[in-house]
Amino acid sequence: MRTVLERDDRDPTQAAPPDNVEIRLHDVELRFGQKIVLSGCSLDCERGKVTCVIGMSGAGKSTILRVINGLRRPYRGLVYIDGKEISGLPERELIEVRKKMGFAFQYSALFDSMTIADNVAFPLHEHTSLTRTEIGKRVSEVLASLGLEDVGDRLPSELSGGMQKRVGFARAIVNDPKILLFDEPTSGLDPIIANVITDTIRDIHSNLGATCVVVSHDLNYVYSMADTIAMLFEGTIIESGPADKIRNSPNPLVQQFLQGSVLGPIPI
Ligand SMILES: Nc1ncnc2c1ncn2[C@@H]1O[C@H](COP(=O)(O)OP(=O)(O)OP(=O)(O)O)[C@@H](O)[C@H]1O
Ligand SMILES: [Mg+2]
Repeated sequence: MRTVLERDDRDPTQAAPPDNVEIRLHDVELRFGQKIVLSGCSLDCERGKVTCVIGMSGAGKSTILRVINGLRRPYRGLVYIDGKEISGLPERELIEVRKKMGFAFQYSALFDSMTIADNVAFPLHEHTSLTRTEIGKRVSEVLASLGLEDVGDRLPSELSGGMQKRVGFARAIVNDPKILLFDEPTSGLDPIIANVITDTIRDIHSNLGATCVVVSHDLNYVYSMADTIAMLFEGTIIESGPADKIRNSPNPLVQQFLQGSVLGPIPI
């Protein structure tokens, strides 16, 4: 297998996006061992808009977010963030790119041995020169905005799943990122908390004006939030556009997925 350094097939100017596209994946291929997870995968996310990625379990949705965040390097293809091609950047420069992003992971991924306040403060310690007092103030503000004012001293294990999820959001937004990545923000939550989370994302989006990429199985959520919906199937985006375009897609794979039907071309 080629290594990153051996990749000489990329010309970073080749597929540079227009200014209104903040995130572009161009013809990305990504493998885990011999398994090809993304192949010919291209996706544009417009600046300040919400792009939702839908698709079957195991389709590679979380992997797309990791590629955007630079946590996974594609084997082939180009990844542009805010005008810069990042897939060939050294780790040191990727850290700079990541500073612009908040990532709320699928399973919250909180640091078990750190308090909630320390978890949320983490990006501020890592990426800013704020003083301890300033960090404490900002953390309290963000926790309060998510209805978590009294939990700063607790450990993640002392919170419910829904609260942990909100702490994950707090950590993702604490340094006002320009790009927000949410992986399954409403999964595993009861309908009321899921609505709270949906409203929270809407507020975050309108307050920060951030470009959001949301991976979700929850079609109600997707229809209500997305400016653009992109469906991933077998490692490729097979359809993308506004909700109406997706709903009316002639592609039988898209229709089967939206209807949740066991009958159709998608192998079950
Ligand atoms: N670190 C890894 N090592 C090996 N294979 C992996 C790794 N991470 C993901 N995969 C595989 O890549 C494929 C895509 O995984 P990914 O987590 O991106 O799917 P997903 O669409 O997010 O699924 P879900 O809806 O269940 O969260 C899966 O087959 C998974 O088993
Ligand atoms: Mg996933």
